[in-house]
Amino acid sequence: MTHQFPSLSSEQQKELSDIAQRVVAPGKGILAADESTGTMGKRLQKINVENTEENRRYFRDLLFSADPSISESVGGVILFHETLYQKSDGGVPFPEVIKGKGIVVGIKVDKGTVPLNGSDGEATAQGLDGLSERCAAYKKDGCDFAKWRCVLKISDSCPSALAIAENANVLARFASICQQNGLVPVVEPEILPDGDHDLARCQHVTEKVLAAVYKALSDHHVYLEGTLLKPNMVTAGQSCTRKYTPQEVAMATVTALRRAVPAAVPGVCFLSGGQTEEEASLNLDAINRVPLQRPWKLTFSFGRALQASALAAWQGKPANKEAAQKAFCSTAKANGLASTGQYANTTGNAGQSSKQSLYV
Ligand code: 13P
Repeated sequence: MTHQFPSLSSEQQKELSDIAQRVVAPGKGILAADESTGTMGKRLQKINVENTEENRRYFRDLLFSADPSISESVGGVILFHETLYQKSDGGVPFPEVIKGKGIVVGIKVDKGTVPLNGSDGEATAQGLDGLSERCAAYKKDGCDFAKWRCVLKISDSCPSALAIAENANVLARFASICQQNGLVPVVEPEILPDGDHDLARCQHVTEKVLAAVYKALSDHHVYLEGTLLKPNMVTAGQSCTRKYTPQEVAMATVTALRRAVPAAVPGVCFLSGGQTEEEASLNLDAINRVPLQRPWKLTFSFGRALQASALAAWQGKPANKEAAQKAFCSTAKANGLASTGQYANTTGNAGQSSKQSLYV
């Protein structure tokens, strides 16, 4: 039996748990605005906007300077390194703009995926070298949480035992390093939606991956009350011929979480993974209506499903800024309601862009 060598003081634990609770306060979720430069390029290309530093800054400014009521549904914003050091049109550093609204600032700290040699196209994520120093700098520069994304894929032979074990371990190392530096780790083991697998297969894989992640977090003495989980919702593969209702997705998702995620974890913030804005909101709403006990907050940490309508309304034109901000506020509000199971079924009112596929 191992001994315990407490690595966090009770003050450190309290700070971490307070941060996590603020991010997932009732009715709130996370805006994932941490697209890397390349990924942001793909988003901008869709609206024929050039991928320049100024255009990336302009769009992020548009989001962060939206109406202050945004803080009723957004508890945290995840930034990419470049964005953390950019300023608003008015010359105010973004972390100050965000904190000024009472929203917690987070940062993406993984450095992307790398292949696992000898596997069937599987990957792990890199970025542990120097992570402690980077986390210390980010904390000093206004961040209170950090995200690390790992990806796993489903096929006849995947995910392999190697991919599950390696990704669980690297997520646990990331989480441990963050907590030592006062940052709440947002642990993201994303199971990709690519493939024709059915809902049951995704549920099974999600359970196995999450169980491995929580075993690794325990092995690494990670303080669960000071963490957040960012998983995929349990959905069938994109090319599965059978379609499932939000109620079926919700039951499979909550069942998987109940089997693998300890009750000490304060919040589960789903990624949207290529779902349309409307699908993501309806699924999140259904998840919060499942007639099963749910000891954690179940909310959003959407990238595409929070920004698609705003990007479509903006089109790179300053004259459209206000319309884009309105679109963003209304999507955020819908998801805030969904995070408490109160998103009235507004499918009929949703704009066209909210129903467009965001799968890449
Ligand atoms: P999507 O919601 O677009 O999947 O992005 C969330 C995210 O941050 C993935 O790492």
